Amino acid sequence: MKKIAILASGSGSNAENIVNYFKDKKDISFKIYSNKKDAYVLERAKRLGVPYESFLKSELEDGTFLSKLIAEKVDFVVLAGFLLKIPDEMLTVFPDKIVNIHPSLLPKYGGKGMYGMKVHEAVVAAGEKESGITIHTIDNHYDEGSVVFQTTVPVLPTDSPEDVAHKVHELEYKYFPQVIEDMISKL
Ligand code: GAR
Repeated sequence: MKKIAILASGSGSNAENIVNYFKDKKDISFKIYSNKKDAYVLERAKRLGVPYESFLKSELEDGTFLSKLIAEKVDFVVLAGFLLKIPDEMLTVFPDKIVNIHPSLLPKYGGKGMYGMKVHEAVVAAGEKESGITIHTIDNHYDEGSVVFQTTVPVLPTDSPEDVAHKVHELEYKYFPQVIEDMISKL
């Protein structure tokens, strides 16, 4: 049995999509964790029948959260719209076993403060002709690490940030579970 921890701070549509993708795979189990106790992702977890829990930012920073992941024998960590920085000790415990998705073609439109709609607003404001997704392992900088997968989508001159968000989410739903499946098959 491989145990996957999904960390999410917000709506959690990717978390739900990932859980659904693996629902017939009996050798993989999920637990969803959020740093926001009222995040919609926890409602989704409840509805999906997936174990879930919230934690405090201080517990991430002081190692309490990491101790919990170790005690629960977590094998792999998926960041699906998770907005806090991962502490160095966690990177040491899970080398190349923490994967993040970012809704742009990194290194463009990454870094602290660049998340969700802010990314798509910046892409449209800059008149970019394409955007996309980046799936990458984590190092100790925001939105950096080794790129595992990238793919693009055209941005039309008439596209609003919401249009770009929609197109990018479609890419996320299609590719993120497949990339996770490939990564955990190599554990
Ligand atoms: C996703 O688009 C993800 O790429 C992005 O947050 C969104 C979460 O949506 N992540 C970042 O911006 C990380 N810097 P969701 O909660 O509906 O899955």
